[in-house]
Amino acid sequence: MEKINVKDLDQSPAKLFDNEWALITAGDENGYNTMTASWGGMGELWNREVCFIFIRPQRYTFEFIEKNDYFTVSFLGEENKKALAFCGKYSGRDYDKAKETGLIPKFIDGTTTFEQARLVFVCKKIAYQDMDPKGFIDKSIANNYAQGDYHRVYVGEIVACYKN
Ligand SMILES: Cc1cc2nc3c(=O)[nH]c(=O)nc-3n(C[C@H](O)[C@H](O)[C@H](O)COP(=O)(O)O)c2cc1C
Repeated sequence: MEKINVKDLDQSPAKLFDNEWALITAGDENGYNTMTASWGGMGELWNREVCFIFIRPQRYTFEFIEKNDYFTVSFLGEENKKALAFCGKYSGRDYDKAKETGLIPKFIDGTTTFEQARLVFVCKKIAYQDMDPKGFIDKSIANNYAQGDYHRVYVGEIVACYKN
């Protein structure tokens, strides 16, 4: 993997998340979990380059993000879509996702990504905020939360970016 400057990326974050999907991973060789996410973004905040991710509290991955200072946002390309579909359907509480999918964990910078990743953002957790329905100006947004499981938004400062 080659380390690159995040400002040299020429790909649309909307396309990356919505079309390719991401794996959000937290933890290290002593224990990690990963899940698929298609809601998220990246950009500038507080004079830093950041990723925003949106995690519902019932996700097993939520526990790992809470416990760890870092997480990764990894893009694996269309050829790994089946693996991402698995990681987005089943919980790490019930399955060893790496074993089931053939994804190979790669431990870098104190956190975890996968050998198959083509683009990786290593993020340092710097802030979180729970979604508050009071702020839903467009009331139809509430349709995403029939069970009241409002996402926790994490802001991760991008401390490294790697490309394969
Ligand atoms: C395409 C796709 C996108 C998803 N995006 C998100 C997301 O942005 N946030 C979220 O909390 N869950 C999202 N999910 C659901 C989780 O990936 C799913 O519940 C997963 O099984 C959680 O695994 P875990 O319990 O091991 O953390 C998405 C699922 C799919 C298939």
